[in-house]
Amino acid sequence: MKILAIETSCDDTCAAVLENDCLLSNVISSQTDLHAKWGGVVPDIAKRAHMENIEPVINTALKRAHLIMEEIEVIAVTQGPGLAIALGVGVNKAKELAIKYNKKLIGVNHVEGHILANLIKNKLGKPDREIEFPALAMTVSGGHTKLILVEAIGKYKVVGETLDDAAGEALDKAAKMMGLGYPGGPIVERLAKMGDKNYLKLPRPLSTQKNFDYSFSGLKTSFYYQIKEWPKEKIGENLANLSATFQDAVFDSLLIKFKKATEFYKPKTLLASGGVLANMELRKRLRKLAKEMKTPIFMPMKKEFNTDNAAMIGVVGYYKALRKEFVKDKESLDRDPRLNF
Ligand code: KG4
Ligand code: ZN
Repeated sequence: MKILAIETSCDDTCAAVLENDCLLSNVISSQTDLHAKWGGVVPDIAKRAHMENIEPVINTALKRAHLIMEEIEVIAVTQGPGLAIALGVGVNKAKELAIKYNKKLIGVNHVEGHILANLIKNKLGKPDREIEFPALAMTVSGGHTKLILVEAIGKYKVVGETLDDAAGEALDKAAKMMGLGYPGGPIVERLAKMGDKNYLKLPRPLSTQKNFDYSFSGLKTSFYYQIKEWPKEKIGENLANLSATFQDAVFDSLLIKFKKATEFYKPKTLLASGGVLANMELRKRLRKLAKEMKTPIFMPMKKEFNTDNAAMIGVVGYYKALRKEFVKDKESLDRDPRLNF
């Protein structure tokens, strides 16, 4: 089954071509530079850039896969959650192509995409990972932070989520407070390596509560009030210490709840994914936790499978196609910015 996948939920215009769950090509046109000077994603700018890039990105993905549109059988597109006007560009393009070329169409949940990013295979079918169910997935990005019980592929139950900011969003906001660029996560990671993580005292919100929900806004506020009176030079001299302290608090919060939920649900496999999983320190800490819990853990194989991409949308499309979950009336497929499980 040859699949064309499209993803435009935020600030990356992405297309991928797969043969079943094996990736033939993966194209990402990042808009980071366009949004950086505004310190975050500007929806109108994102929409315009998606509209300019969507066709070339799809054409490049097809070309790199050595296929033409006529040879594609299924088109999978991110339906939500995400920025409404950004999602609309991908959904409209997918509909247009599916109708024009008479292809099957599948709407995909972006968060399911992040979970199944763990199952992206290369052209040779590697790695051949087998998830044992139930699995417990943690997806951590700039738009969402969720703990999801995976009973089977396609069968999900959200068992915990952030009540306010996403973990990546918290890292981005802290970076902004320190006068660093956007997105903050990778910059904070780089600086944190050289800093003292005990430099400030920051809370671990909700860590003593029994549920598996997260909160990052208290952490951000505490950070803000502790540095707000500081002269610029003091912040500048302590960027590494501040980054290390903030990152450690975010990762502790993530790990505390992941561990609690693992003890409660006793999953057979752990999964972790989302943009923040590009962080090597977080990956290291998750591997250590998995060892301690004597449970295997999967994390996306490549850096570009953590942050937004269409390969992960294609894998969801593949499993939905196996279950024949095609859109019945192609014209009616609509973006759903608040799509949930
Ligand atoms: O999954 P993603 O590309 O987009 C959303 O669905 O939100 O995630 C983007 C988020 C941003 O908040 C960014 O700062 C964070 O992932 N991120 C990182 C790293 N790379 C990206 N956070 C920590 N360390 C990184 N290396
Ligand atoms: Zn995402």
